[in-house]
Amino acid sequence: MSILSGKNILLGVTGSIAVYKAIDLASRLTQAGANVEVIMTSAAAKFVSPLAFKSVTGKGVYKEEDLWGGEAHVLHVGLGHGADLLVIAPCTANTIAKIAYGLADNLLTITALAAQCPILIAPAMDAGMYEKPATAANVATLMERGVLFAGPEDGRMASGLAGKGRFMEPSKLMGHIRHALGMNGPLKGKKIVVTAGGSREAIDPVRYISNRSSGKQGYAIAQAAVDAGAAVTLITHPTGLPEPENMLVIQVDTAAEMLAEVEKATREGAHGLIMAAAVADFTPVNVSDQKIKKRDGFGQVQLTPTEDILARIALLRPTLPNLKAVIGFAAESQNLLENAREKLARKKLDLVVANDITASDAGFGVDDNRVNLLFPDGILDSLPLMSKEQVAETVVQQAIHLILKK
Ligand SMILES: Cc1cc2nc3c(=O)[nH]c(=O)nc-3n(C[C@H](O)[C@H](O)[C@H](O)COP(=O)(O)O)c2cc1C
Repeated sequence: MSILSGKNILLGVTGSIAVYKAIDLASRLTQAGANVEVIMTSAAAKFVSPLAFKSVTGKGVYKEEDLWGGEAHVLHVGLGHGADLLVIAPCTANTIAKIAYGLADNLLTITALAAQCPILIAPAMDAGMYEKPATAANVATLMERGVLFAGPEDGRMASGLAGKGRFMEPSKLMGHIRHALGMNGPLKGKKIVVTAGGSREAIDPVRYISNRSSGKQGYAIAQAAVDAGAAVTLITHPTGLPEPENMLVIQVDTAAEMLAEVEKATREGAHGLIMAAAVADFTPVNVSDQKIKKRDGFGQVQLTPTEDILARIALLRPTLPNLKAVIGFAAESQNLLENAREKLARKKLDLVVANDITASDAGFGVDDNRVNLLFPDGILDSLPLMSKEQVAETVVQQAIHLILKK
């Protein structure tokens, strides 16, 4: 179950042209299983109809008039009490100022003042407005009080001007909302290192040897660890996937670079290491510093084994008292369980997640995975076909168990 599933999200929308993007945000949240109720300011309702939000959420949309309607006694403070998170997106300079000063002159600002839940603000305003001393001071005041901010970003605004003030795209905002919901989760205060993608071993400045890993499973694990409250370092080979929010993302090309970054991040007090990357087992012995010309021919590419990252971590482990969970993946095309068990023992892992890469419906490139969890005590848990997000949640649950166990 995703962190958004069953969560009560109050979405406040204000009078910015970017409010049309909030319809997409409301839709994404609803599709992820959240109960989304929307509060519109009068200015927001001049840009889009409440019906647009109602159509995508299937839930109530509260407008300014509702503050003085028959439900006033409930709405007055009740909305902010029942919510898991109040997201104000887009948030105008005006509403930021009102909340900073404790003004409560409309349903949204009353709700913000009465809210018992965390508040996440995604500002949107034209070039110059965000950096004006008044707005900057209001934002600083709210940050000091623990209000969370997502954006704004640099870029082109609807007015044609460019600068800082652009509303964060809904796809990225989703990451901030997940982070806000999960920040007090079981891995709060814990560091998790996750690896993803397939490494690139250069032959010349243009060509490389790689593999079919898409990085989807590793990215999903990194997100699931953020959802559980962890401080996540994602060390990734190139994937083409959108850069995730609220984690430290380190891009590497080769197996040797991955090894150096994993060792560094793990030595910096990591509590868990989850290696979902498909790291090259071999690398070319000679790398040409010029592009090899077709007319000259390639000849043979001689390969040499790369250093095994998990074997290095196994050696270091006695010096890493924080490190309680080391989880590896085994992608095999034959003798799946036998090979995975051998890997578990040789690399002294706490868990190996084994998948058969010959299956057409699971594994490399696709959105689903069918995995087997193998534990050092010999227990085998064979899971059915699941989405990579579900596999990620399962793996992170195991990491939580290993990290928190006395
Ligand atoms: C076309 C148009 C676009 C606007 N866009 C923004 C904006 O992006 N950010 C902002 O802070 N104010 C913007 N404003 C000004 C706000 O709508 C105005 O300050 C309003 O009082 C905000 O009310 P609210 O904060 O209650 O929604 C815009 C106004 C107009 C007419």
